[in-house]
Amino acid sequence: MKVLVTGGLGYIGSHTVVELQNEGHVVVIIDDLSNSSKDVLKGITKITGVTPQFEELDLKEKYKVQDFFKRHQDIDGVIHFAASKAVGESVDKPLFYYENNVTTLIYVLQELQKLKCQNFIFSSSCTVYGEADKLPISENSPIKPAESPYGNTKQIGEEILKDSCQINLDLKTIALRYFNPTGAHNSSHIGELPQGVPQNLVPYITQTAVGLREQLSVFGNDYDTKDGTCIRDYIHVTDVAKAHVCALNRLFKNQQSHNFEVFNIGTGKGSSVLEVIQSFERVSDQKLNYKIVDRRQGDVISAFADTTKANTILGWESKYSLDNAMLDAWNWEQKIRNK
Ligand code: WQD
Repeated sequence: MKVLVTGGLGYIGSHTVVELQNEGHVVVIIDDLSNSSKDVLKGITKITGVTPQFEELDLKEKYKVQDFFKRHQDIDGVIHFAASKAVGESVDKPLFYYENNVTTLIYVLQELQKLKCQNFIFSSSCTVYGEADKLPISENSPIKPAESPYGNTKQIGEEILKDSCQINLDLKTIALRYFNPTGAHNSSHIGELPQGVPQNLVPYITQTAVGLREQLSVFGNDYDTKDGTCIRDYIHVTDVAKAHVCALNRLFKNQQSHNFEVFNIGTGKGSSVLEVIQSFERVSDQKLNYKIVDRRQGDVISAFADTTKANTILGWESKYSLDNAMLDAWNWEQKIRNK
């Protein structure tokens, strides 16, 4: 099938393109290169032997989006990753986040609805749950008021899909709520390329270990958890990528009972910050330089997924361990620093 992947040169997007091409799908990538590089195409080609079609395009430019879909009316499905995702940045630039994450979704959906095939996978996030009342977090957990404009754009995105699906039964959609994607492809040909100082834990760990950063700051160890540090569900990015292929296959096979579904994509296991550090030290065979500092504002204490729905309905489950993810992240970091 022919699949459009917006943001397909990004972190999760590129790993998903690899899995789609491994399954024999024809992939067209749209990316504005604001948070990625054309070099990622070489990495995808090295892994799969196939270079996906690529068009540099800013989805905020409505007429270019219309022109693209006029030239690609044979698209069978869309996986929509293109969005900004830095929680902190979104607080400083809310209007940019609403334009870049919501307006672009609307433009893509408007054009998709003119096509024969209207299969759409949306990149959503566990941030929609906020601090969940019950763990593990299931898809029925209440959606909490967003703690950042970024999180709000994901909630709004799901609402847009829900409303569109209500009025257009030809539109078939799945929203995947990722927990904490981490790691890199085990070939070390593609991985995460954070711009500037990493906000997320794992890239900060690997950049500290490789000598790019002086020391990791652990944001608080006085939480009500097993070791006082926050708990998250760190899922290997290749497992996240494979979930998209499973979701798309569900749409291609017309298996939905309702044309808007959501699935949690995680491992189902919670790991504390200190456990992630211990995992990294184990696989890299080196001590990490870190210190405990004050809590980071906006952090939820604990979040990990109930993945029963994705396991039973999508026929998907995570296969890689935290150690696998840490080792792949470390190998990738050393590769891009030519260590
Ligand atoms: C994890 C833990 C920090 C950095 C991310 C994305 C969000 C969403 C969910 C996709 C927290 C601690 C971090 C550091 C630290 N993904 N930490 N020192 O906050 O769960 O959110 O995943 O939508 O977009 O941002 O991930 O990696 O920032 O933090 O101690 O230098 O690591 O306090 O407990 P988070 P994170």
